[in-house]
Amino acid sequence: MTEDLQTNERVIRRRPRSRLEPLSVNIRELALEDISDVFELGQKLFTPEKLPTLYRAWDEDEVLQLYTAARETCLVAASSDRIVGFALGRIMEKPRSAWRYGWLLWLGVDRATKRRGIATRLLRQLTSRFIEREARIMLVDTDEHNRQALTFFRKHGFGQEVRHVYLSQNLDAHPEALARREKDEREE
Ligand SMILES: CC(C)(COP(=O)(O)OP(=O)(O)OC[C@H]1O[C@@H](n2cnc3c(N)ncnc32)[C@H](O)[C@@H]1OP(=O)(O)O)[C@@H](O)C(=O)NCCC(=O)NCCS
Repeated sequence: MTEDLQTNERVIRRRPRSRLEPLSVNIRELALEDISDVFELGQKLFTPEKLPTLYRAWDEDEVLQLYTAARETCLVAASSDRIVGFALGRIMEKPRSAWRYGWLLWLGVDRATKRRGIATRLLRQLTSRFIEREARIMLVDTDEHNRQALTFFRKHGFGQEVRHVYLSQNLDAHPEALARREKDEREE
């Protein structure tokens, strides 16, 4: 089902915003050979325009490190051997603390297969894995304007929202950066 919208001379075909038929996918642990596919899918989802904070932190090394350190809590969804979603998390614990946390760090589903229950299945299986590993609190975070992710997490029982503000400073204009560039130029 698509919806046609007339705008001046163009016709835009829009994907429906409502739920679609569930898609049959295989949820399994992240494997070494999945790393580049997961990275590429994330590149398509975490764009600088829509999700700038996630865009900055997302790189192939991040996926590789999670694979190395926490593969039991990193899941992918595959449909006909194509990766269509991922949920990458890790257990966090503090010395001398009774609390273990299960932190869902990265969640993404291919645009072509959204609203078909894939993230829900990934989340359920990851939650079970966190519970098996004695996590007592599950953490997720996302941009405050990421409406689809917030709707998704709230629907699945996440609450107690705390706002965290990222600040940045361009270091190109810092006196030490200027001095360094001048030194490099003198040495060339
Ligand atoms: C958020 C995201 C993972 C959801 O994946 P999904 O597979 O489409 O989610 P599901 O089909 O399991 O959706 C479950 C529920 O979440 C809510 N939801 C999901 N996408 C939504 C959207 N675009 N608008 C409104 N509600 C939405 C709905 O309540 C939905 O239930 P319903 O379809 O019965 O109404 C996906 O949109 C995505 O990859 N977004 C970009 C990356 C991102 O923001 N990641 C999260 C932070 S790391």
